[in-house]
Amino acid sequence: MKNPDQHDAPASDDDVVAERVRIFDTSLRDGEQAPGFSMDRRAKLRMAQQLEALGVDVLEAGFPQASPDDFAAVAEIAGTLKSTTVCALARCQDGDIDSAARALQAARHARIHLFLSTSPLHREHKLGMSRAQVLDTAVRAIERARDHCHEVEFSAEDALRTEPEFLAEVFSAAVAAGATTLNAPDTVGYTTPSEIVALFEYLRRHVAGAERVIFSSHCHDDLGMAVANSLAAVSAGARQVECTINGIGERAGNAALEEVVMALKVRAPHFGVDTRIDTRQLYPTSRLLTELTGQAVPRNKAIVGANAFAHESGIHQHGMLKHRGTYEIMRPQDVGIAATSLVMGKHSGRAALRQRLQAMGYTPDDAALDDIFTRFKILADHGRELHDEDLEALALGRDPDADGPWHLVQLHANSHFGGGASASVRLSHDDGHHAAEAAIGDGPVDAVLRAIERATGTPLELTRFQIDAMGEGADAPGHAQLSARHAGRDWRGHGDSTDIVEAAALAALLIVNRIEQQASAAPATRNLGATA
Ligand code: KIV
Ligand code: ZN
Repeated sequence: MKNPDQHDAPASDDDVVAERVRIFDTSLRDGEQAPGFSMDRRAKLRMAQQLEALGVDVLEAGFPQASPDDFAAVAEIAGTLKSTTVCALARCQDGDIDSAARALQAARHARIHLFLSTSPLHREHKLGMSRAQVLDTAVRAIERARDHCHEVEFSAEDALRTEPEFLAEVFSAAVAAGATTLNAPDTVGYTTPSEIVALFEYLRRHVAGAERVIFSSHCHDDLGMAVANSLAAVSAGARQVECTINGIGERAGNAALEEVVMALKVRAPHFGVDTRIDTRQLYPTSRLLTELTGQAVPRNKAIVGANAFAHESGIHQHGMLKHRGTYEIMRPQDVGIAATSLVMGKHSGRAALRQRLQAMGYTPDDAALDDIFTRFKILADHGRELHDEDLEALALGRDPDADGPWHLVQLHANSHFGGGASASVRLSHDDGHHAAEAAIGDGPVDAVLRAIERATGTPLELTRFQIDAMGEGADAPGHAQLSARHAGRDWRGHGDSTDIVEAAALAALLIVNRIEQQASAAPATRNLGATA
């Protein structure tokens, strides 16, 4: 039965605003069902709350009939979110529809999302149904779903390989049965921008009642065109785009939400539509997903990749220093990234080095800058990417790769079933003394960091920890990257080992060493603005 407290649509939804594109996020359904991206209930709830903060209009929380766990996750999210419409997926089967409705019972704004294949290939080989049976099944399911819920979306699975006239017939019957959103998914990522434009224009002309519903696109990325196809659908009248954070999803993934949204924003005069997304939440949302799933995005990923706002080459850095518009079409702050980074590597020039040193409080004269630049190039030419700590070491006349004063002598870490971990470390210092400490933590990495803090007397506030496998197989070395705050400043360290706890310990020790080196060298030299 319908929940009388449920609203037809989000309270602030001044529908039907033709020029607003609804963002339908399916990271927790289509995204989560891809290998490597599964999330437990706690993670899904955390992600759902972040997606609401991001401002998605509709959040597809799962497929309640698929498993008791999926049901519970949808119910929990439905009971928690306030302004976002929570959507549950269902096949056109009574059991699916009823369990979707039950899972959504507590939602303030609910939607049942029905899907049924319509293409000849799926009709024959997957469903074994005639056109008439598909049409009849869809209509009965939509009517049943409408008995439970004001908002019903109907998806014609494999729509882009369906005969357009049959698709229009199914969609017309769907509108008459009460569907409020019609979704035409490119289930196998086969279409092209011009084809999807033609299909949406055709549907808007030939579906009876088209003016009463929202047309939606749902594109997969098998040929790398999911975002382009979604945007093409928008240009042909789609007013809902189904997409996922970081483009996660079945096989090659779905259209990436952050790319669709920023394309609509940056090229607003071209598309003439907007969304309700708070774009400053894009990067935090992407980061949260990578943390919850353990799957990092490639450096060169649009909008949220580490290189999206990074410039290394001298020519680009020079241009950026003169006018950021030379090489940036959007501001990093608009997507929630603190700042553009002029990465100091082998392609960087003197102007960028001087600017970076000045930002850190060092003002070397031309001769000193020449000397720093020469040493910088030697390191960078070996493929080293240089961070602020390295540049500071160069400015202070030190070798950024110098080891010590602390060295790891011994490390033990244990994690305990059911939670908790402990670690002990023994360190030696270049001045000859040793320090040994033990600590407990949320996990072995946390415990070892706490032990290092105690042993060295250097408090660290961990802000980022990432571990990447350098190769395949269980014995692949791990590369740990750690960021931490100490005395109001950010520090970075890295460490490599086949043991990830040891890799993290080495990264933490590098940070402690840099802090100590800087403390012993900086006061005398920083204000002089010259190398030591
Ligand atoms: O790709 C697809 O067709 C789907 C439907 C369930 C909408 O994910
Ligand atoms: Zn899909």
